[in-house]
Amino acid sequence: MSWLRVSFPVDSCLIERLTAELQRLGVVSVSLSSADGNAVFETNLDSELLWDRTFLQAIFPVNFNPAILPDVLDQFGIKQRRVDFLPEQDWIGEWQKSLLPNTFGHISVCPRHYTETTTQTVIKLDPGLAFGTGEHPTTAMCLQWLSKQNLIGKRVLDFGCGSGILGIAAKKLGAGSVVLVDNDRLSLETALENAQFNQVEVSLESSISKLNQEFDVIIANILLNVLVNYADRLSELLMVGGEIVLSGVLREQYAAITCAYSGIEFQQTDWQDEWLLIHGCKARA
Ligand SMILES: C[S@@+](CC[C@H](N)C(=O)[O-])C[C@H]1O[C@@H](n2cnc3c(N)ncnc32)[C@H](O)[C@@H]1O
Repeated sequence: MSWLRVSFPVDSCLIERLTAELQRLGVVSVSLSSADGNAVFETNLDSELLWDRTFLQAIFPVNFNPAILPDVLDQFGIKQRRVDFLPEQDWIGEWQKSLLPNTFGHISVCPRHYTETTTQTVIKLDPGLAFGTGEHPTTAMCLQWLSKQNLIGKRVLDFGCGSGILGIAAKKLGAGSVVLVDNDRLSLETALENAQFNQVEVSLESSISKLNQEFDVIIANILLNVLVNYADRLSELLMVGGEIVLSGVLREQYAAITCAYSGIEFQQTDWQDEWLLIHGCKARA
């Protein structure tokens, strides 16, 4: 059997509804990438999306009738699309096979189907709609940092959890409790699903304003403006002597971050490409 591929750019805010509609039509697989080919982080403070325009590719069985597509796609304002045929292939299997484990210190992140034989701390995670597989330098640096810590019994907050990768890693490394926070519903759902698959217990929240406990470790991989806007709240949630890790910021944004977190003594900075990871401790008042 060959397959029918339908590809088009679409506004990212429509993805959730559109994907549900494609599933109703019998889509076999949907893949999403940034329509401009490079944006990875969200750009607006309150935006819930990783990029504004998405390039979507939907694969249907060859007996699917593409004549019904215009009606559906028109509802979403999608006028331009490309339809072509693909030869027989197990698309999902091929895609999964292309994903191999990635190692960060003694943490190994591998696809769910992969049989990992290592003695490392293993996180099983498939790429999905939420950010965080370890491929991005900021996630990679956060995982490297976590892998060097003694987290036994610690209370950890993962702010901007995306797929939940950092919080799940913390819990697997022995954290006593982990709270995952994200203001994107899809990310929270994915994070919960990933935590369950990895058999770790976590709590989930949609906003840090709802939290009323202190943390020993806070890890936040978000954009500069979010980190700056929530500086006071994050500092308040951190216990005296507690550790905070901020990433998702660019090298030239270092001063903006350190100024916003006046109660934190910053100790260490790592970088990869243009991205920074900044680590500090909460000083006594
Ligand atoms: C760059 S991703 C990081 C994902 C994951 N923690 C990692 O390290 O790969 C940032 C996440 O922060 C979330 N986010 C952005 N602004 C937020 C806010 N104000 N409150 C909570 N989450 C937010 C986004 O939805 C996104 O999932």
